[in-house]
Amino acid sequence: MRRVLVLLLLFLSSQTEATVPFTELKRQHFPPGFIFGAGSSAYQVEGAFAEDGRKPSIWDTFVHTGRMPGQVTGDVASDQYHKYKEDVKLMHEMGLDAYRFSISWSRLIPDGRGSVNPKGLEYYNNLINELLSHGIEAHVTLFHFDLPQSLEDEYNGWLSPKIIEDFTAYAEVCFREFGDRVSSWSTVNEPNILPLMSYDVGLFPPCRCSYSWVVHCSEGNSSVEPYVVAHNFLLAHAAVVRLYREKYQAKQKGKIGITLLAFWLVPLTNSSTNIDASKRVRDFHLGWFMDPLAKGDYPVTMKKIVKARLPKFTKTESKLLKGSFDFIGLNHYSTMGVEDYRFTLRTKRLDYITDVSAKLKVWRNIFVSPTEEDGSSFEYLSQGLPRLLKYIKQYYGNIALMIHENGLGLVDSPSTPLLMEAADDGIRVKYLEQYMGSLLSSIRNGSNVKGYFVWSFLDTFEFGFGYMARFGLYSVDFEDKHRRRKAIVTCSFV
Ligand SMILES: *[C@@H]1O[C@H](CO)[C@@H](O)[C@H](O)[C@H]1NC(C)=O
Ligand SMILES: *[C@@H]1O[C@H](CO)[C@@H](O)[C@H](O)[C@H]1NC(C)=O
Ligand SMILES: *[C@@H]1O[C@H](CO)[C@@H](O)[C@H](O)[C@H]1NC(C)=O
Repeated sequence: MRRVLVLLLLFLSSQTEATVPFTELKRQHFPPGFIFGAGSSAYQVEGAFAEDGRKPSIWDTFVHTGRMPGQVTGDVASDQYHKYKEDVKLMHEMGLDAYRFSISWSRLIPDGRGSVNPKGLEYYNNLINELLSHGIEAHVTLFHFDLPQSLEDEYNGWLSPKIIEDFTAYAEVCFREFGDRVSSWSTVNEPNILPLMSYDVGLFPPCRCSYSWVVHCSEGNSSVEPYVVAHNFLLAHAAVVRLYREKYQAKQKGKIGITLLAFWLVPLTNSSTNIDASKRVRDFHLGWFMDPLAKGDYPVTMKKIVKARLPKFTKTESKLLKGSFDFIGLNHYSTMGVEDYRFTLRTKRLDYITDVSAKLKVWRNIFVSPTEEDGSSFEYLSQGLPRLLKYIKQYYGNIALMIHENGLGLVDSPSTPLLMEAADDGIRVKYLEQYMGSLLSSIRNGSNVKGYFVWSFLDTFEFGFGYMARFGLYSVDFEDKHRRRKAIVTCSFV
């Protein structure tokens, strides 16, 4: 196939005769035990949305109201529910140490709480056993955006503290049933962006907002709800970690943590307002979760700006949160420029976005059109990763980290109808090389990073983009009934 694969093969199979340009990139240069993997999430790849007792999540409801571009859905997605054996085989051929995937809460416990679906149990048991029998570790995310619809209907899901008990009970089923074979658990994926997308601008389900300029929300309060939801994520995370540590970890010997979206943010110019703005965005982006997790409370900047709208932790909660992780997972895609931006009084808006008061300059390297991008920016952008890692070490200590997502999405366009063009791969190879290279130099410089996962193993249903952005190391033909994986390995470099 694609040069990406070839690169990974070289890189993962410890061969020394690489003719890839980045000759330094060899597996054995990474510390022993370093994990190379690739990832996915349940709603994005499984499909089988109404099969074997699975009930809807809020994403099913959302896509079925036709709100995705092109009205696409994840009903079938990459069909991994039916094709997991084939996929595990491909992972094995690629030489992956681990697969990062999530469990669909409403497949396992269709009503969100109460009875467990035996077919759900069977599926995840099968998947995990298949991975293990191929020597691939299971790294499992408990919550990756797909809340059971029934809990949203009953008490507004993550807006209510009732979620903590139900999430913990769901997690316990997972620990009890799968924990003997799971190496690593992440409680929640990207809780630091979901409140913004779902409760401030209302673009993601449950589509709540009071200010959005993009969509009309029938309910919501953008001033307070993003902060309440983040607070409940933190408390639910802490409760689940306590449960795992008290009851399961000694026996099962897995690790547990949480996964945050983590851009590196640089001031667009060296003006003091832009430097302050970039610090502020870092606090609202990473500090929002990292400070409570590492220090037991929200960043001072946030307390000063958000004031009474920011929930408070009790002493007990704060103690429970502090140190409630064995590792922090980072989803790192790019570096962004930050510019101070004051909303005019006329807008009378008070939400996360006006609290942050900044504009972000996104260099287009998360989604690129191969015809427009030559990858020349990657060298500069990838320098953000070592800086991010250094920043975390400086502010939060030498904690264990996992790069849980890093990757490049290629956008299908009329001029490049096929993702399979060799040119497409060239650009992705460049991206991955640059990022893996800068990761390696950080590790050599003392960064405590334990693993690296490419997003994504397969092309997936991308939240917000549907099937337009292709991140997969293996591509999927979404036009094909059988969702053929396209893995035409030419191995010209091996
Ligand atoms: C949001 O909630 C706050 C606190 O309850 C309230 O003061 C404010 O008026 C609400 N805003 C909207 C737009 O409903
Ligand atoms: C800001 O200052 C730093 C250090 O002096 C320098 O490396 C950087 O290029 C400057 N950035 C801009 C955008 O001028
Ligand atoms: C490497 O570590 C040194 C000492 O802590 C630090 O000064 C330097 O900036 C680091 N370099 C990178 C690329 O992280």
